[in-house]
Amino acid sequence: MKPNACQPMNLPSPEAGEWLKFARQRLHNIEDGGLAAQVILAHVLGKSREFVLAHPEYRLENDQQAQLERLLTRFEQGEPLAYLTGKREFFGLTFGVSPAVLIPRPETEILVEKALDWLKRHPQRRLAADVGTGSGCIAASLAYHVPDLRCVAVDRSWQAIQIARRNFERLGVLGRVFPLTTNLLDAVGGVFDLVCANLPYIPTAELARLAVSRFEPQLALDGGWSGLDWIAVLIKDSARWLAKGGLLLLEIESGQAEEVTQLAYQSLPAVKIEIIHDLHGLPRLVWLERTQ
Ligand SMILES: C[S@@+](CC[C@H](N)C(=O)[O-])C[C@H]1O[C@@H](n2cnc3c(N)ncnc32)[C@H](O)[C@@H]1O
Repeated sequence: MKPNACQPMNLPSPEAGEWLKFARQRLHNIEDGGLAAQVILAHVLGKSREFVLAHPEYRLENDQQAQLERLLTRFEQGEPLAYLTGKREFFGLTFGVSPAVLIPRPETEILVEKALDWLKRHPQRRLAADVGTGSGCIAASLAYHVPDLRCVAVDRSWQAIQIARRNFERLGVLGRVFPLTTNLLDAVGGVFDLVCANLPYIPTAELARLAVSRFEPQLALDGGWSGLDWIAVLIKDSARWLAKGGLLLLEIESGQAEEVTQLAYQSLPAVKIEIIHDLHGLPRLVWLERTQ
């Protein structure tokens, strides 16, 4: 193909296949760089990944080339792909994301699976809360799969609640999921059958050393001095808002299971506790079922 006179310097010839080769080369040191290049190209063209692979001859407009270059550079600088494309798959659904919310993680799908199992076994228990909803991925996934569920989705971040609300609307669950900006369950009255919480759990001192804190929101990661500052308050108050026979499901860091267990025994009069491990065999979830 002949070079295009208007083509910006350093960019490959304006065909999709050529751009993919060029991008793959540039990203060869980055894990899954080739896949990222396909995702970026599909996003900019507004097509599927299958389409861009099947149509290497597809012509790129000048503005598309410029956008591709900007996104490629941001990806090279470490920005997560989900923030570049503005979306992430979670539990088979697509969620809009921005740097105001944590990018939903596969390990959190375990929490959703366990919650859905429990809801299936307790068809009379249909009032839920998702504390620290972020993109809304937990609340939306539960409501999507349980059509008679009603769920309050709270977050301290107003920006996160705006993202969550849009996701609830797009997934058709907004009438049954109620987004609200508040600290924990402070502004919410009532008693819940199921409370799910993926609150921040990284100790403040550790945070600066972690790559995740470069792009994802501090508010979503910083668990205070102990890492459990928010989780501890939630557990301590749980006797007030968790129904008898209700379930509190908490995502934690692997080293926190023992401390969370102790807190639960101190705070709930009668509780059945289970620690659930992730695919790497690490403690990832605490199951607290209030028996009385
Ligand atoms: C680890 S992110 C989880 C987001 C989402 N639930 C997920 O699993 O991807 C924690 C979320 O809790 C919110 N958060 C932090 N402290 C909070 C608090 N005290 N009350 C309510 N939400 C809080 C953050 O803004 C953030 O959106």
